[in-house]
Amino acid sequence: EQQKTALKAEIKQLLKDNNAQLVAHYYVDDELQALAEETGGVVADSLEMANFGAQSTADMLVVCGVRFMGETAKMLSPEKTVLMPDLDATCSLDVGCPADEFAAFCAQYPDYTVVVYANTSAEVKAIADWVVTSGNALQIVNHLKEQGKKIIWAPDRHLGDWIEKQTGIEMIRWQGHCIVHDEFKTFELEALKQKHPKAKVLVHPESPSEVVDLADVVGSTKVLLNAVESMPDEEFIVATDYGIFYKMQQTAPHKKLYIAPTGSKVQSCNSCAHCPWMAMNGLENLRDCIKNRTGEIHIAEPIRQKALVSLQRMLDFSR
Ligand code: 13P
Ligand code: SF4
Repeated sequence: EQQKTALKAEIKQLLKDNNAQLVAHYYVDDELQALAEETGGVVADSLEMANFGAQSTADMLVVCGVRFMGETAKMLSPEKTVLMPDLDATCSLDVGCPADEFAAFCAQYPDYTVVVYANTSAEVKAIADWVVTSGNALQIVNHLKEQGKKIIWAPDRHLGDWIEKQTGIEMIRWQGHCIVHDEFKTFELEALKQKHPKAKVLVHPESPSEVVDLADVVGSTKVLLNAVESMPDEEFIVATDYGIFYKMQQTAPHKKLYIAPTGSKVQSCNSCAHCPWMAMNGLENLRDCIKNRTGEIHIAEPIRQKALVSLQRMLDFSR
C-alpha cells in the first residue's frame, strides 16, 4: 500500500512537470479512474474522452484505455504528445476489422455511406464517411436514414442489430464482436432477474440481441451510468464491463449493483466481465510511460487527415 501511495505521488508530479492530463475510460482499474479525477483529468465514455482531449490545453495527454482511444486523441490533437501505458492494449473489434479487408469489402458497394464504430483503427476511420460511438450511433444512423442513404455498418454486429431494430433500416454489415459483451448469457441473466426481481437491467448494445431484449435500459456506458444515478430504483443488474461499477457506486453509493452473468459457471466477480486489454493499464506502466516517454501514439499524416474528416463529422453532429 505504501508503495502504491509513492507511485501515485510520483505520477502526480510527472503529470505536473509535463503539463499532462489523464484521460481514462470507465473500464480501467478503479485506482486509475480515481487518479484521473484527482489530477484534473477525466473519466468518461469513448465519446467524452474524444471531446475532452480535443478541448484540453495540456501539452500531453495520457490515455488510459485502449489503442483506438489513444489514436482518436492524437487525431484530434496532433500537436500534443499522446501516450498510453501499453500500446498493445487493443480491442477485438479493432483487431477483427483489418483496414485492407475492410477497404475491399466497401469497394463492393460504391454508392453506400460507410459508418464505422469508434472502436476501429485510424486506417479504417480513414475509409469511412462517418465515425459513431455507442453514445450517438442511433441518432447518426437516423439522420442518414432521413437523407435516404444506404449504409455499410462496421464492425460490431450486435450494435448493428440494435441499430437496425431501432431505426427499421437494413444495413450492409461487417460481422465483428466485442469479446467481453458477447459473453453475456440470457439464461443466466433470467435466473439472476428471478433472484432480484426488483432490479432493473442495464445493457450495453455491444451485447447479443437476446440479452439486449431483456434490458430496461440500453445504451453507452454514460447512459447506463446516468440510469443508476437518476432512476428511483435501488437495484440494478449491469451488462457491461465491471470497471464501470467504480463510477456507478461513486454516484449512487447506497444502490445495489449485480454484474450480469457471462456464463453458467460465472457467478462471482473474480471472473466477471472485464476487458483484458483495458486491464493492461496499471499504475506502474502509467508511471513508466510518462517518465520514459514510451507508448507514444504516432499516426501518418495522410491517414490522420482522412480519418479526421469522419471523426470530426461525428463530433460536430453530437455538439
Ligand atoms: P462506450 O462508447 O460506451 O464508452 O463503450 C465503448 C467501449 O466498449 C469501450 O471499450
Ligand atoms: Fe473492445 Fe470490448 Fe474491450 Fe471495449 S470491452 S475495448 S469493445 S474488447
